[in-house]
Amino acid sequence: MSEPTERPLVHLRGGGVSVLLDARSTGVPVVLHWGEDLGDGAGFDAPVWAPAVSNNAVDVPVPLSLLPEEALGWSGRAGLVGHRGGHDWSPSFLLQDLQATSDQIVVELADPVARLGVTCELYLDGTGVLRVRHTVRNTGDEPYVLDRLAVTLPVPGRASEVLDLTGRWCREAHPQRRDLQQGAWVRESRHGRTGHDASLVLVAGTPGFGWRHGEVWAVHLGWSGNHTTWAERGPDGRGTLGVGELLGPGEVILAPGQECATPWAYATWSDQGLDGLSASYHRWVRSRPSHPRTTRPVVLNTWEAVYFQHDLGVLSELADSAAALGVERFVLDDGWFGQRRNDHAGLGDWEVSGEVWPQGLGPLIEHVRGLGMAFGLWVEPEMVNPDSDLYRAHPEWVLRERPGSPLPPPSRHQQVLDLGQSAAFDHILGRLDALLTENAISYLKWDHNRDLVAAGHDGRPGVHGQTLAIYRLLDELRRRHPDVEIESCSSGGARADLGILERTDRVWVSDCNDALERQTIQRWMGLLLPPELMGEHIGPPTAHTTGRTHSLGFRAVTALFGHLGLEWDVRQAGEAERRVLTDVIAFHRRHRDLLHAGTTVRPDPIDTSHHVHGVVDDGEALFAYVQLASSPAEVPAPVLLPGLDDDRTYRVRAEHVAGAPLTVQRVAPPWLDAPDGVRLTGRQLRITGLPVPVLAPEQALLLHLVAD
Ligand code: GLA
Repeated sequence: MSEPTERPLVHLRGGGVSVLLDARSTGVPVVLHWGEDLGDGAGFDAPVWAPAVSNNAVDVPVPLSLLPEEALGWSGRAGLVGHRGGHDWSPSFLLQDLQATSDQIVVELADPVARLGVTCELYLDGTGVLRVRHTVRNTGDEPYVLDRLAVTLPVPGRASEVLDLTGRWCREAHPQRRDLQQGAWVRESRHGRTGHDASLVLVAGTPGFGWRHGEVWAVHLGWSGNHTTWAERGPDGRGTLGVGELLGPGEVILAPGQECATPWAYATWSDQGLDGLSASYHRWVRSRPSHPRTTRPVVLNTWEAVYFQHDLGVLSELADSAAALGVERFVLDDGWFGQRRNDHAGLGDWEVSGEVWPQGLGPLIEHVRGLGMAFGLWVEPEMVNPDSDLYRAHPEWVLRERPGSPLPPPSRHQQVLDLGQSAAFDHILGRLDALLTENAISYLKWDHNRDLVAAGHDGRPGVHGQTLAIYRLLDELRRRHPDVEIESCSSGGARADLGILERTDRVWVSDCNDALERQTIQRWMGLLLPPELMGEHIGPPTAHTTGRTHSLGFRAVTALFGHLGLEWDVRQAGEAERRVLTDVIAFHRRHRDLLHAGTTVRPDPIDTSHHVHGVVDDGEALFAYVQLASSPAEVPAPVLLPGLDDDRTYRVRAEHVAGAPLTVQRVAPPWLDAPDGVRLTGRQLRITGLPVPVLAPEQALLLHLVAD
C-alpha cells in the first residue's frame, strides 16, 4: 500500500447502518466496514486494523477498496475491467479528492498512466439504504474498451449463506439459497430486460437467517438491462457482494473524454433478518420525490376479461359493472390499435383501429370517465410485429446483430425497435405523445414482452444504449405529461427494478393471477417493493394460467395487500360474488392508507404449509394467515404476530366480508366467533401468539387488529 497521508477515516451513518472508509493511503479508499452502526467516532486505527499477510501471498495487506484492483494483489473480481487495445488493462488509481458530508462521500480517482478517472459516489440517509455509483472517464486520447465497472462491498466471514431470487414467466421471484463457500456465486442476466429470473436482491447473511432473525447484507441494482450480481469469498476468507451492468463485447467503448456510470446500487444491512432489509428498502423507496403520493385507485384491467375481443358495447358494460363494484381506474389492455386482433400483427402501429373502434376510443373513454373512473391504456412501445405497417416502412429500425443481418429469432411474433436510432425514438415518442394529448388517458400500462436477443445497434451490442434510450423516452414522456401514471409490465414481472421505477408508478408483478402462486411471488417481490407499487388483481374463479380454481375469499385476501385490481369479466360474476367483491373493494379502500404506508412483517413460518404476512402501522394492523398446502399438524400452532407495540392491547378480529368470513374454517378457536374477537397485548401476540382455525389448503384468514 502507498504511504499514509493526512486524509481521514470517513464515516457515514444512517438508519442504523455505518459505512467506514479508510482514505488514508494514496490509493482507492478502503471499505473498512459496511453494516451495523459503529456509533460516534468509529475509533479505528489503520495499522492495527489492516489484515494479516499470509504465507505465499503478496507481502503487503491487500486492500478491499471501493474498486478492488488486481494491481494491488486483489485476486477476486476486480471493480474495473477494460483495456485500450490490450493495454492499460490493470489500472492503479490514486486518490485525487474526497468530499464528505454527513450523508455522502464523493471520491475522485485518477490513473495518469492508464489515463483513466473514476468518480465514486456514496449516499447513506436515515433509511439505512446506501446508494453507490461509480463513473469511469477516459482521460487518454485513444478509445478505452470498458468490459466491467461494478460496485463491490465487503461482507464479513459470518455472512456465510446467500439468498437471491429467480423465476420464469408466471413464476417470478422465487428464492434460492446456498452456502457461500470459496469461489463466486454469479448471476448473469442477458435478457435485455431485468428478467423473470432476476436476482432482484442478493442477500448474504449469518447461518439460518430468516424473515425476522439473523444479520443480513443485501444489494440490488437499479437497472433494466443486462446485469450481473455476485457473492464471492476469496482464499483469504474475505467476502464481497457485487453488482454491475453486464456489458457485451465492445458494447461500451469510451472515446477520449467520454464517461460511463454504473447504475445505482442499493445496499442495506439489518440484524432483523429479511424483514429488516425490506423495511429499509421500503423506507427508501417511499422517500423518493417521485413516489406516488396519491391514493392508489382500484383498477379493472380488461386483459383476462376480454383479451383481444374489443367491442364498445361489451367494454362499456364491463365498465358499468366495474364502477358499480367500486373500481376507480379502467385499463384497456392489448388489442385497440392497428391490425392487433391477436398477437401476430400490429405492434408498432399506435393508431386506434378503425375496424374495432370506428369512432375512436373517445366514446369508451367518455363512458368510463362518466362513471367516475380514470382511463388507462396498454402500450408496448419498444416492440414491433414484422406484420405491421411500421416494420414494412422501417425494417431498419429493428435491433439485430448488424445492419442487414437476419432478424433475431421472433418471440411472441415480435421484434425490438432500436430506440438508439433517433428516427425510431422520435417516431415512438411522437405517437405516444399524440395519444396522450388527443385522449383523456391518465395511465399507461407499459409492456415489454420479449427478451432482447443478439440485439445490436450499428453492428455493436445494443442493450446498454437501448436501456438508456427507454429511460430517456419515459423521462421525456413524463416531462410532457406529468400527470400520467405508468405501470411497468414485462410479460408480468420481468421489468421490476429501481431503475425503471424511477420513472414508473407500479409494477405488474406477474401474469399469473392464481392466488396460490401469487402468495409466493408477492411475498418475495415485496422484499424490495412496498405493497403500493405491486399490482395485484383478483382474477376469475379458475386461473387462466394454471387452471386452478380458488374461492373468492382466497383470491381477495391474496390481492388486497397490494395495489388492488380486478382482471375478470365481472359481468359474469354472480350476485353473491358481486356482493363479496363490493365489500372487498370497500374494505381495501377503507384500509389502503394502512396497507400502502405501513411496515410489512412476515413471521418465520413453522413449516412450509402456511405463511403469515401483515402490514402494521400506528395502532392498527392487517394480517393474513395463509394455508398454502395441507398442514402436517392436525391443529396448527398459534400464529405469532410480530411488529406490534408490546405494551398496547389489540382487539383481534377475523374480517368478515358480505356477512361471511372470507374463508371457510372447519374447527374454530372460540375467539373467532366472538363478536368482539379477542383482546391481547402486542407482547402476547408476539410471544405466545394467536390460536387459529384449521384451514383447508388454499384458504386464508384475514385478521384485523386495532389497539385500544
Ligand atoms: C403481456 C402482459 C399481460 C397483457 C398481455 C397483452 O403478457 O403481461 O398482462 O397485457 O401482454 O398482450
